[in-house]
Amino acid sequence: MSALVRAASADDLAALEPILPAFLAPPHKRGRLLRALAAGDVYVAEDGGAIVGFSWLTEFFAHTFVNALAVAAERRRSGYAGDLLAHAATRAVSNRIFTSTNRSNAAMHAVLSRYGWTRCGEVDHLDPGDPEVFYVRYLSG
Ligand SMILES: CC(C)(COP(=O)(O)OP(=O)(O)OC[C@H]1O[C@@H](n2cnc3c(N)ncnc32)[C@H](O)[C@@H]1OP(=O)(O)O)[C@@H](O)C(=O)NCCC(=O)NCCS
Repeated sequence: MSALVRAASADDLAALEPILPAFLAPPHKRGRLLRALAAGDVYVAEDGGAIVGFSWLTEFFAHTFVNALAVAAERRRSGYAGDLLAHAATRAVSNRIFTSTNRSNAAMHAVLSRYGWTRCGEVDHLDPGDPEVFYVRYLSG
């Protein structure tokens, strides 16, 4: 069953925190997320009234970019990342969307392969020793 994906607000912050604590704990990252929540750039996936994951969309060279994607550890492998990525496609400002992940993130590479994304480049010197791998998905219609 698909999750309902809706725009998040600051009221959802408490529910988001346990989903990706390492990502939200540093104060500068938390501040950025709060600003993104206020701007309407964060979306939550809900199932049975519970928030099971979220996405954060930004802009990348005039294309929509999935800047963060996370699903609660106990709710993974249920297709929620797919629901959030499908929703991100509906928000695309062009005919393709982009995302990236560390080379070491096997789960995310598997997700992107599963949902038809294509690897389109790599950037060194962001996380030393763990390059950032970029992906694109062209949208039909
Ligand atoms: C990456 C992440 C978002 C995936 O969320 P998810 O909801 O579990 O993904 P889905 O259920 O949509 O997975 C779809 C398919 O991707 C593949 N996949 C997902 N996780 C996988 C894993 N850990 N290992 C291997 N394949 C995996 C599988 O083919 C899966 O289909 P299946 O369950 O029928 O086999 C989740 O693991 C997560 O939140 N990780 C921590 C945060 C993170 O790394 N985010 C990405 C970078 S910002």
